[in-house]
Formats: sequence, structure tokens, C-alpha cells
Amino acid sequence: MNHPVWDIPFLGSGWIIGLISIIHVSIAHLVVGAGIWLAVMERRAQAAADSELLAWLWQRAKALLWLSSIFGAGTGVGIWVAIGLVNPTATQHLIRAFVMGWAIEWVLFAGEMATLVVFVLAYHRLRPNQRVIVAWLYALCAWLSLVVINGIITFMLSPGQGWTTSHAMWDGFFNTTYLPSLLLRSSVALALGGLWAQAGCPLEPSLRSRILRPSALFVGGGVLAAALSGWYYFQSFPAPTRALVLGNLQGSTGLAQGFRWALFGLGAFLVPGLLALWARLSPASFRRPVALLGLLLACWGFGGFEWIREVARKPFVIRGVMYSNGIRVDQVAAFQREGFLAGNAWARAFAASKGDTDLARGEAIFRAQCLACHTREGYRSLRALTASNSPEDNVFIVQGLRELDPALNPYLDRMPPFAGTEQEAELVGKYLASLKTR
Ligand code: HEC
Repeated sequence: MNHPVWDIPFLGSGWIIGLISIIHVSIAHLVVGAGIWLAVMERRAQAAADSELLAWLWQRAKALLWLSSIFGAGTGVGIWVAIGLVNPTATQHLIRAFVMGWAIEWVLFAGEMATLVVFVLAYHRLRPNQRVIVAWLYALCAWLSLVVINGIITFMLSPGQGWTTSHAMWDGFFNTTYLPSLLLRSSVALALGGLWAQAGCPLEPSLRSRILRPSALFVGGGVLAAALSGWYYFQSFPAPTRALVLGNLQGSTGLAQGFRWALFGLGAFLVPGLLALWARLSPASFRRPVALLGLLLACWGFGGFEWIREVARKPFVIRGVMYSNGIRVDQVAAFQREGFLAGNAWARAFAASKGDTDLARGEAIFRAQCLACHTREGYRSLRALTASNSPEDNVFIVQGLRELDPALNPYLDRMPPFAGTEQEAELVGKYLASLKTR
């Protein structure tokens, strides 16, 4: 790990990724569900020779093209830029471990775009059955891209014993949380796709029920399946992670607020469920703005779930392999023995640029090891967390972080061990103390 550290005041680096991701994953899952919905509805409308509905579906396909090509792809690139800047070491590691996976993902995305462009631009030139085939091809490419990315995301939570020894891509890919996560994500995709259809439903009463009734099945079925697979997914978590999540739900640490927020997020799925019932039972009285609200709530709930997943992985970025600050588990011993500054060229250069004082060295190590989760003042502020500590307390805490035995270091479930010598821990402790007077 010799990359520069991006210092983002107040918000912290994690939130930069988080905010872009919440938008991106919502759109990415929505287009998967909407693709399946489009194929099903196109087939239905053709079978009923419903030209009014067919014309509307074509409009929806255009909207879907805008959504996925501009916002989906734009935020997808945004995530790459953000993770590359925030955690270059982990990004490098994920690219290396999954080169083939990323390549397949790219081909699938190109397929997604190509089939949707064909569906929209050649709609009137294609024969009806060709349109259905193109719509299904689009849905398949979109879902398969979820199948691929799911392997890489679940790997970060549960890389598995197989991969740790073999380093073979598929051993990491098909890990213990792979299947439950895929089921959960597919269910959420169906619900979001149905909600999107409901939110864009036209005002004419006659068309309305022909759209709302089948779309409600997507929403209701998706929400039910998401609840069941969500439970299955949680059961598949590595045991310490489950305990961490439950402990936080009971409010034992400061993370609890975030978990509660996410729980309300799951509650947000109840609202879409009720909306589905309404749309199914009384389409004439259904209102579009309410559906839009339901869609936003569902995206929020989904953001809460993603947030739980991120936090459940802490203090790792790849569980058991690499900590959130980019230091690999197998590097800690050497850094503790020989020193972090001795082994990290960026930290040395940073300290030198500030006169190589003790404080500058402390700050260099602090940036490299602590900014992944803390800010000085703002999100998880270290100035606030150490406000009542004496300088000796701070030195004592950071030196305590060097301890690798969980019985002696109670922070190990949320913070990486300090990867440096006893003297370097003292430098960081003194730097923390200096935050008070800035
Ligand atoms: C993987 C994320 C992560 C990293 C990296 C991290 N911390 Fe923390 N730290 C936490 C969390 C989570 C808490 C608990 C926050 C709370 O209670 O609000 C915490 C709490 C603390 C506290 C308060 C402890 C207490 O008992 O009140 C201190 C001090 C602290 N961290 C210092 C550091 C220092 C110094 C570093 C770098 C060497 C560091 N942290 C790196 C996640 C992290």
C-alpha cells in the first residue's frame, strides 16, 4: 500500500462511495426488474392485440434506455472513480482477483445497451415475436450482469477458505453468501421494476388497470421474495458478522443509529407492499405520485440494506484478507516489527513534505491508517471521540490497538489493529491529542 490518501473533511471517504452507490445500485437493480417486466408485458399486450398498451410500452422502453445509459452508466463510472481514489489498494486487489469477471461484466453491459437500442429504434421494423425475443435478450443480459457483479460483491463479505488458499477466481466467486444474495437482489429488482412501471402509469382510466394489475404482481411478489431471501441471506453471514449486526441493532455501540436507519429502510419495503395491494385491488383510485413515493422509499430501504452489508464487513474491505485502510492482514506483523514509515513510501514522503517532525509523522500514519473510517471533525470525528482524553490516554489507546488478541483489544471487531511500532503508535496518539487545539 503506497498510494496517496484522499482526505475528505467532514463527510469522510466512505460516504463519497456510499452516496454514489445508493443511486447506482437502485438504478442497476431497477433496470433488471424493468427488463423482465417489459418482456412479459410486451408478450401480454401482443397476445391481447392491445395496440394502446403496445404504444405505451414502447415509450417506457425509451425511458428505460435513458435511465440506464445516462444515469446507470454514469453512476457506474462514478463508483469506479470513487473507489479508485478512496481505496486504490482494494480496487487493485479486486481487479486482479476478478479480471475475467470484469471483462464478462463489460460484455454483458454492452449487450444490455445494444438490445435495448435495437428494441427502441427498430421497434416498428421488428416482427412481434422478434420484439419479444429482443426484450428477453435485454432482460437476460441485465440479469446476468447482476449474476456476475454479485459474485464480486459477496466475495468482499465472505471470500471463503477455498479462495484464500487457491486464489482461483471461481473459488472466490461462488462463496457462501453468493446464492442468498443473488436471490435477494433478484427479488428486489422485480419489486423496483414493478414500482417503476406503476410510477410511470398513464392517467387514462382504461389503460391504467391493464398496467397496474400485472405490475402489482411484480411489486408484491418481489417484496415477499425479498423478505424471505433477506432472512436466508442474513443466516448465511459469517457468524461473527451476524453477531456484530445483531449487537448493533440492540444499540450496544455508536453504529446502532445507522443500523436502525437501515431497519426503517427495510420497513420501507412494507409501503411498496401495500401499494401493490392497492394497485391490484383498486387501480382506478390509484395515484401516480404515491407510486413515485413508494419507489423512492424502496430505493432508500435498499440503500439501508447495502449500508448494513458495508458495515457488516468492517473492519475489513475484503473480509479476513484486507482491512478498510487497505492494509492486508498478512502485512500487519511486519509493519509492527519494522515500522509503518519504513515500509510505506507515501507516508514517508508526506511526513518529509511537512518537515519530518514527530507531528508530521504521526499525521502521515494517521492519514494512511485511520481516515478510511474517521474524519478529524465530522463523520465519526476523532476530535469528538477523544475530546475527554488526556494526551496519555490517546497514546495508550493507539498502543492498545497494536494488540492482536481480541480478549485484550476490544476494538478489533470494528477497527483494524494498528500496523506500526510502539513508538509510531505514540506519534499517532500525540497527533490525536493535537486535534484538540486546532
Ligand atoms: C474500519 C474502520 C476504522 C478504522 C480504520 C479506524 N477506526 Fe477508530 N473507530 C471505528 C469505529 C466504528 C469506532 C466506534 C465509533 C463510535 O463509537 O462512534 C471507532 C472508535 C475510535 C476511537 C474511540 C474509542 C472509544 O472507546 O471511545 C478512537 C480513539 C479511534 N477509533 C481511533 C482510531 C485510530 C487512531 C485509528 C487509526 C490508527 C482508527 N481509529 C482507525 C472504526 C475505525
